[in-house]
Amino acid sequence: MQTHLSLEYGHDDDLPAGHVNEVRTPPTLVERFLEAYTEPGDAVLDPFAGYGTTLTVAERLDRVPYGVEYEQERVSYSRDQLTAPENVRQGDVLDLDSSWLPACACCFTSPPFMERRDHRNPFRNYAGESSYDEYLDDIETAFTRLESVIAPGGTVVIDVVNMKYEGRVTTLAWDIAERVGTVFDFDGEVVVAWEDSDDHDRNGAFGYGYDHSYCLVFSTGEG
Ligand SMILES: C[S@@+](CC[C@H](N)C(=O)[O-])C[C@H]1O[C@@H](n2cnc3c(N)ncnc32)[C@H](O)[C@@H]1O
Repeated sequence: MQTHLSLEYGHDDDLPAGHVNEVRTPPTLVERFLEAYTEPGDAVLDPFAGYGTTLTVAERLDRVPYGVEYEQERVSYSRDQLTAPENVRQGDVLDLDSSWLPACACCFTSPPFMERRDHRNPFRNYAGESSYDEYLDDIETAFTRLESVIAPGGTVVIDVVNMKYEGRVTTLAWDIAERVGTVFDFDGEVVVAWEDSDDHDRNGAFGYGYDHSYCLVFSTGEG
């Protein structure tokens, strides 16, 4: 796979009223990675499933989607999109009971993001306090919980950005690569340039100050 992609930012559907500005992963991005790293029939996991973009793309490509999501409204939304709604469960990845999950060939996910100087806890939908270091500890814990779920030779792809806000840069992508690299083997990053990045209608819904993001690619190293 190329180490840089240029894609158009967009979605096939609109979210319900009250959710329209929520951040979602563009389906074209998920498609590229699932086509590269999985085959039809493979199980695909998104442990931060959100509105189910990874899951609906996986199903469209004849993969079998599994998802975990903290927010019940988002769970309900993605269940409505899928033919096997029972494969999406409400839960906290930090306390994941993975006994119901099969061995997954690929995890494609976008975790909640945090800026270094923010103090809200993104793992509780921004309710409660957290420091950036605690956040990174939670990222490492979350991916440690997934270790037993990824099949030998499987791939973990994390869609993430560095964040530039009021002139300050949080090197979120580098920091997540380092932490998750203690759990899985880091194989490198794919830089994703988003076309039409000066379209303000997106309310900064990607990039957080940048017009590109990263997909960090990890493997179990046991293939
Ligand atoms: C960046 S969004 C994912 C968006 C998703 N890729 C989509 O296209 O809809 C991150 C998601 O992680 C969820 N989340 C946050 N903390 C969580 C936790 N502890 N366990 C499971 N999900 C969590 C949030 O509710 C949010 O929906």
